[in-house]
Amino acid sequence: MRPEEDLSGSSLGRFRVETVIGRGGMSTVYRATDTRLDRRVALKVIDPALARDDEFRTRFLDEARNTSAVDHPHVVPLYDVDRAAGPDGEERLYIAMRYVDGRDLAMLIGGRPLAPERALRLLDQVADALDAVHAHGLVHLDVKPANVLVEGRGGPEHTYLADFGLTHRGATGHRTHAGDFLGSPTYAAPEHLRGEPVDARTDIYSLGCVLFTCLTGRAPYRGSVTEVIDAHLAGKVPAATAVLGAAVTGAPPLGRDVDDLIRRALATDPSSRPSSARELVGSARAALTRRTPAARPAAPPPRPREGPPIPREGPPIPREGNPRAGRATGSSPRAARTGPPAAAPPQRVQAPTAPSDLGAFGPGAGPSRPAVALVVAGAVVVVLVVVLVLTLT
Ligand SMILES: Nc1ncnc2c1ncn2[C@@H]1O[C@H](COP(=O)(O)OP(=O)(O)O)[C@@H](O)[C@H]1O
Ligand SMILES: [Mg+2]
Repeated sequence: MRPEEDLSGSSLGRFRVETVIGRGGMSTVYRATDTRLDRRVALKVIDPALARDDEFRTRFLDEARNTSAVDHPHVVPLYDVDRAAGPDGEERLYIAMRYVDGRDLAMLIGGRPLAPERALRLLDQVADALDAVHAHGLVHLDVKPANVLVEGRGGPEHTYLADFGLTHRGATGHRTHAGDFLGSPTYAAPEHLRGEPVDARTDIYSLGCVLFTCLTGRAPYRGSVTEVIDAHLAGKVPAATAVLGAAVTGAPPLGRDVDDLIRRALATDPSSRPSSARELVGSARAALTRRTPAARPAAPPPRPREGPPIPREGPPIPREGNPRAGRATGSSPRAARTGPPAAAPPQRVQAPTAPSDLGAFGPGAGPSRPAVALVVAGAVVVVLVVVLVLTLT
């Protein structure tokens, strides 16, 4: 393993390097200050050993070009790409970009499912960015939670798609010259793993994996690198509902439509996948809405006669997650593909409007005022008639 470099406390060109905020396969990302503009930046510095390698040098500069090619509110803005001498006099390549004051999506998930509504709000933005990347003729090729940066703790969350290190324009380029696969196999599409041509649908597959991870707290396939790759190639997609159920006791099922959608996004045949990132996330929203008719009743809800309690919101986010909980029980790919259809999503049962329910509690309860007045008037008339008859006889 290469020793990890840490430039914290030193200067790189006009940047004052403060602290490490992330490390990836070929670089270290620092929080730094641009002393010329006096603004905070994220500084991605390529590993010096790799910087000597022409292929990696080119890849790094490609990343800068690709990132800056897409001007989009959900793509991390790039400020500069350059080289400068490090504290040891050796030259470093760096990218300066907007410092995203938050966490990446992998940290946010942290082995626990996100509430579906929150997951969809975040992924809506990622989908927008990804479709924009595709509209530029680019394929990101490394869509995964660690490459989605999320800003806005305690307020509306804003995401940025980051790390365009593997992005490319052509049919090749996602492997080193030595033929090594680049990227994370956990989220990689079968065609990418096989070294076949890739396109926007390759990113849709990865986004489907990210959706699965957001909703269940774990990636669809786990195990050794070889096991994960084999599972992607075999395409036996686990049902997200089953995985969530095993991880979180009492979690409301995601529903068969969500499971089917994820299965479609993770199809080994790219032509079976949703045609855009927005379509994928939009369909997920529709499927989850069907599952939980979010319509909160304006009037007090009628009492259901039977059936399970009906959840109003998504699964609770446990405070202490157990990332391994899913592994212990596992999910059944066989059941997901050929098993009997999951139980129909819970429906709110319409209770009969029994007279005894009326007039119990609530503003609409009891007879109306005009009805009371009529009854009283009627009684008075009857009494008067009786008195009149008695008087006459
Ligand atoms: N602009 C940024 N602002 C804040 N954190 C960042 C930024 N860019 C990257 N990071 C953090 O650094 C990690 C690694 O960055 P990334 O660009 O993905 O590098 P790599 O190519 O080495 O994977 C990210 O997962 C994230 O946690
Ligand atoms: Mg990364």
